[in-house]
Amino acid sequence: MLVLGLETSCDETGVALYDSQRGLLADALFSQIDLHRIYGGVVPELASRDHIKRMLPLIEQVLSEAQCQPSDIEGIAYTAGPGLVGALLVGASCAQALAFAWDIPSIGVHHMEGHLLAPMLEDNPPEFPFVALLVSGGHTQLVRVDGIGQYRLLGESIDDAAGEAFDKTAKLMGLRYPGGPEIACAAQQGVPGRFKLPRPMTDRPGLQFSFSGLKTATLTAWQKCVAGGDHSEQTRADLAYAFQDAVVATLTIKCQRALEQENLKTLVIAGGVSANQALRQSLEAMLAQRQGQVFYARPEFCTDNGAMIAYAGCQRLLAGQKEGQSINVRARWPMEELPPLVS
Ligand code: KG4
Ligand code: ZN
Repeated sequence: MLVLGLETSCDETGVALYDSQRGLLADALFSQIDLHRIYGGVVPELASRDHIKRMLPLIEQVLSEAQCQPSDIEGIAYTAGPGLVGALLVGASCAQALAFAWDIPSIGVHHMEGHLLAPMLEDNPPEFPFVALLVSGGHTQLVRVDGIGQYRLLGESIDDAAGEAFDKTAKLMGLRYPGGPEIACAAQQGVPGRFKLPRPMTDRPGLQFSFSGLKTATLTAWQKCVAGGDHSEQTRADLAYAFQDAVVATLTIKCQRALEQENLKTLVIAGGVSANQALRQSLEAMLAQRQGQVFYARPEFCTDNGAMIAYAGCQRLLAGQKEGQSINVRARWPMEELPPLVS
């Protein structure tokens, strides 16, 4: 089955063509980062308007790259939530209009299920069951995954998501948006050990996360340096290192705890923060000790993209699921509400 996937939940317009037999045929992305950067974060109205401009040219681009005709497409998948409602509506309306015009089924995909399944697009995909760490700009969740649509939430952030903490901390330290890659880049020059930051909620049992105190601790350390006349690049790098190290250590401890609790040896990491090299290395070391394995997608499929939506939608369409003709999107949408896949 050839499926067109559309992703518009935030500040990236992603379009892809995935075929259940031949795999990923084409994938195109337009990132709005430059549009939002001067505001230090995503401006929802600007995001929606830009998705409208980019969507049809990107669809034409993937069709031409895959050397396909519109009549070859057998289903359309679009992100139906969670995300920015205006932005989601662009993808949903476009998908539903095309599905109606081409007389093919459509399916609304859960954005985090898309992220979760993105590693399935790689050569050596993980096998169920596994523990998934979903770390994006809006979510930090540990989930037990027994199959597509069989999700049990083990723990999540009670305040900021990991990506959000990266973004906010970067902004406080005068780094650009999005903060994750900026902090990761600055941290490469950082000297370990100069700053010691807390590893939130690791000293008590449970699988919840909290990153807002870490953000404040980083700000306090930065302000102290600045007040003393030190706002050098080196100090920024040292603090970026300490912040990233604290996030990575916290995520690693909780992943280990979740694997122990569920008695599993397979970990999948997904979402924008899973592109972080320090996090990958730390989790790989932890899993190597347990004779387990960690799986993740290539970096461009860790952040938002159309390929993961085409893939997830294709699995659900193949199982006979599809939408009616109304256009429904959801800003919030617990992943546990998704139906299991019965093929
Ligand atoms: O999954 P994603 O593209 O969008 C959401 O669904 O939110 O994730 C974006 C988030 C941003 O907060 C960004 O700063 C973070 O992922 N991110 C990173 C890295 N690349 C992206 N965080 C840490 N290290 C990275 N290399
Ligand atoms: Zn995302």
